[in-house]
Amino acid sequence: MKKIINYLLNFRFFVRMFRTYKLLMIAIILLSSCRQGNDNNEGNTDITQPEQQTSPASSPDGPDLFSKYACFTCHSLEGGVMYGPPLNGIFMKEVNVIRQGREITVVADRDYLTKAITDPEYEKVAEFKDKTMPKPVIPEDDVETLIDYLIKTGEKE
Ligand code: HEC
Repeated sequence: MKKIINYLLNFRFFVRMFRTYKLLMIAIILLSSCRQGNDNNEGNTDITQPEQQTSPASSPDGPDLFSKYACFTCHSLEGGVMYGPPLNGIFMKEVNVIRQGREITVVADRDYLTKAITDPEYEKVAEFKDKTMPKPVIPEDDVETLIDYLIKTGEKE
């Protein structure tokens, strides 16, 4: 008889354990699913925010190309002189260049910038005439994107 009572008591104990445990399990499941929900939300904002910030233009964008073609190794966009001249505010600036041995002043419009990027030997910035910019192998689209980027960088100031 005692055995049976003991057995029942133990059984009750286990049922109670199971109940608490079950509650714990449910709590853990709820918590983790809540967290997942939050993670998903964070993920969404992470993905959508940069899309809203960047212009709807093309990818890759200016900064990407500026690194891809290593322009940054010779040109600063903050006004400092590195190996080459700084490129912020370059758009429509008057530049002294040497073209076919003659020093002339030109305005750095789109055509000038295109030429400066695609055929650096055609004319050289007078101040930097002893330095050489290597001719990059670069598709026309990327040149356009880079020029847009240089113009935009100048406008911010
Ligand atoms: C190895 C260094 C080097 C790299 C890399 C380089 N440049 Fe240059 N760049 C120069 C030098 C030096 C000059 C000035 C001499 C000249 O005009 O050739 C110059 C001139 C220019 C000019 C004319 C600036 C002015 O004041 O009129 C532009 C625009 C320019 N670079 C854009 C670029 C872009 C865009 C890239 C990347 C695709 C690039 N450069 C990569 C060295 C470099």
